[in-house]
Amino acid sequence: MTATKIAPSFLTADLARLADEVRAVEQAGADYLHLDIMDGHFVPPISFGPIVIEAIRRVTTLPLDIHLMIEHPERQLEAFAQAASATTTILTVHVEACPDLPAVVQQIKDLNCRAGVGLSPDTPISAIESVLDAAGQVLVMGVQPGWGGQALIPATLPKLRDLRALLSERGLATDIEIDGGVKVDNAASCAQAGASVLVAGSVIFNDAAPVADNMAALRNALAAAHANL
Ligand code: DX5
Ligand code: ZN
Repeated sequence: MTATKIAPSFLTADLARLADEVRAVEQAGADYLHLDIMDGHFVPPISFGPIVIEAIRRVTTLPLDIHLMIEHPERQLEAFAQAASATTTILTVHVEACPDLPAVVQQIKDLNCRAGVGLSPDTPISAIESVLDAAGQVLVMGVQPGWGGQALIPATLPKLRDLRALLSERGLATDIEIDGGVKVDNAASCAQAGASVLVAGSVIFNDAAPVADNMAALRNALAAAHANL
């Protein structure tokens, strides 16, 4: 089992000090920056768009993991790819927002980005059947999309296991990213169930402890899991 990646999400960060928050997770060993884009339609809240991505890009060299919780992502992909302008950018679209998923995945690849496909909690794994070979990453929501700080929905763990089994059956080592509800006490279970990337929002950015301590706690939980495999 290779090292599980950690992708901090900034919904509960101090956005008035965004550059500092980005540097803090970078110094603490984050693998990607997970950037949650919400349009007020696909999910009720509105977050931020390409101009904020561009600002973040100027203060970090980490890969950007852009999670598009938006309707009609095909209309916005180019703007996000341009704003990120990096060799490693993951653009994740939700299958629920893509009537022609294979076409959108191809569009992402044509923009020289890694294609991610996201599944909301009620969406079955069969919904990504048509892009299983083409996707670089599958994002499995562990909570209803839209808000940070929620509890992991228990059915997520068997879903991760089923997806990992399906990918292995097809001979695919595609990354599985678990997004939402990851805490120190369930991180190991998520990794053992097959997640190779953990999105970590409120577990990293909270009032209880500094970012570096929170990242260390998460890494320690994962190290214990690896030792037990
Ligand atoms: C929710 C977002 C998540 C969220 C994770 O719609 O996609 O990335 O910010 O936050 P936590 O880790 O607090 O559940
Ligand atoms: Zn997300």
